[in-house]
Amino acid sequence: MAASIKLCLLVSCALVLATACDGLQVGYYRKTCPRAEALVRAEVKKAVRANTGVGAGLIRMLFHDCFVEGCDASVLLDPTAANPQPEKLGAPNNPSLRGYEVIDAAKAAVEKACPGTVSCADIVAFAGRDASYLLSHAKVSFHMPAGRLDGRKSLASETLTFLPGPSSNLSSLVSAFAAKGLSVEDVVVLSGAHSIGRSHCSSFVQARLSSPSDIAAPLATQLRKQCPASPTAANDPTVTQDVVSPDALDNQYYKNVLARKVLFTSDAALLSAPNTARMVRANARFPGSWEKKFAKAMVKMAAIGVKTGRDGEIRRNCRLVN
Ligand code: HEM
Ligand SMILES: *[C@@H]1O[C@H](CO)[C@@H](O)[C@H](O)[C@H]1NC(C)=O
Repeated sequence: MAASIKLCLLVSCALVLATACDGLQVGYYRKTCPRAEALVRAEVKKAVRANTGVGAGLIRMLFHDCFVEGCDASVLLDPTAANPQPEKLGAPNNPSLRGYEVIDAAKAAVEKACPGTVSCADIVAFAGRDASYLLSHAKVSFHMPAGRLDGRKSLASETLTFLPGPSSNLSSLVSAFAAKGLSVEDVVVLSGAHSIGRSHCSSFVQARLSSPSDIAAPLATQLRKQCPASPTAANDPTVTQDVVSPDALDNQYYKNVLARKVLFTSDAALLSAPNTARMVRANARFPGSWEKKFAKAMVKMAAIGVKTGRDGEIRRNCRLVN
């Protein structure tokens, strides 16, 4: 086993130069739980049909899971006496991250079909893939390799360490992604997920409305009407991220970046270096090209820090360690 892993590292990684040695496999549950992916997809479809915003939440959930302790469903763990401050309660997740009930429903369905077989981490990855497919109207279509195990460690304090904030400049974004093995292009390509969903006013008002910013004047005026000057926990409305096509996962995000119609400093920052600005223009210009890159980048992100063997388990309930 150790020898074959070494051989894989030497041979496949040298030849393929990417993702070949993370131990994940397309169709991982083909024999042990053949309906697993279809069951997850059915729950995601039902939820997205009722509220497209939940689809946005599921795509973001994969990012937030993978950047903190790897893609191990650590973001799903509820507070307990033994661990009162899990990731879920960290500022980047609480109260904004949504979609947890969809994962619960999908887990219930796969547990019924094949008890103790499908990890919560794989369900999060499948759900992120399925939500991308649905919100892109089938243009982002890809296989999601599986075989992740669920982690047992989840700390709110690690969310702010590893998840870049909306006020990040380009060099902070690039180093946060590099710390997880992702490239400058991955920063640009994955940021395109901000063509769907919402943001709380508190995520951008201070940096982008109360201070001078390059946000386009008509959008700034509109946002000042929607957001209080000083959002609080009790008064923190949400606004649409992509005012042009709010529910479509598409390359409109890049057109918005160029038109300065984006909410965050981290979005606008993609124009602050020639190489990333060039990628933004290319993604805005060529229809269909971003969707393919996004699919690849999602697979790459979903392989971060995957747990195997003794570090992991297949949770019975996605909210609790076994
Ligand atoms: C590049 C660094 C990133 C920063 C700084 C960032 C920051 C944020 C912030 C502040 C919000 C709004 C949360 C709220 O106030 O409700 C948000 C929303 C969102 N983000 Fe990101 N994000 C980044 C990358 C990503 C990535 C890599 C993905 C997924 C591939 C992603 C997907 C989303 C989605 C879909 C939403 C909307 C969520 C919803 O409607 O519930 N983001 N992001
Ligand atoms: C980017 O932000 C980091 C962290 O806030 C800061 O240390 C750095 O100087 C900034 N870089 C640039 C180029 O502004």
